[in-house]
Amino acid sequence: MMGCKMRSLRFLLLCLGLWPLGSEAADPEVLKPRVPPAQIEEARSWKNPFPATPDNIQKGKIFFHGKAYCMTCHGKDGKGLGDIPGLTGKLPRNFTDKDWQAARMDGELLWILKNGSSGTAMVSFIPQVLTEDEAWHVILYIRSFGK
Ligand code: HEC
Repeated sequence: MMGCKMRSLRFLLLCLGLWPLGSEAADPEVLKPRVPPAQIEEARSWKNPFPATPDNIQKGKIFFHGKAYCMTCHGKDGKGLGDIPGLTGKLPRNFTDKDWQAARMDGELLWILKNGSSGTAMVSFIPQVLTEDEAWHVILYIRSFGK
């Protein structure tokens, strides 16, 4: 039980190994912020200028599956199990993880698309692949996986 934080019943049951297998359990490692502490406050202040209309989400989907090839790693279903052979280290994020969705603000996701996640296969996509406006549409699509 060492290091087992009793933040919630679910956490406790997870620690005890009693939480039923197959439920979406957030890996605490995944919830840790990816934006460095010195930049996170600024990143969190960036707001998505585009509303989550079906049209805008659809635009984001086209980039995600098309020119930005996000789905090769994050999967068509956003579960992070794409099929790049030999991908080692940290796994691509599972966007259907509701705890992860709740742990991140939109600006942190934009920061990742600008800078990548250091030491992982997640590289930067702005501006080489996506403009900032396009990236905001992709973020709307990423958010739709959590609904
Ligand atoms: C080559 C494989 C690969 C591709 C292509 C890729 N990703 Fe990732 N992505 C990853 C990996 C690996 C991680 C996990 C990094 C980590 O844990 O820090 C990740 C993490 C993320 C995260 C989560 C960062 C966080 O704060 O937790 C976001 C958002 C993301 N990717 C968006 C995208 C988008 C949008 C695209 C397409 C423009 C894309 N990724 C393309 C591999 C990829």
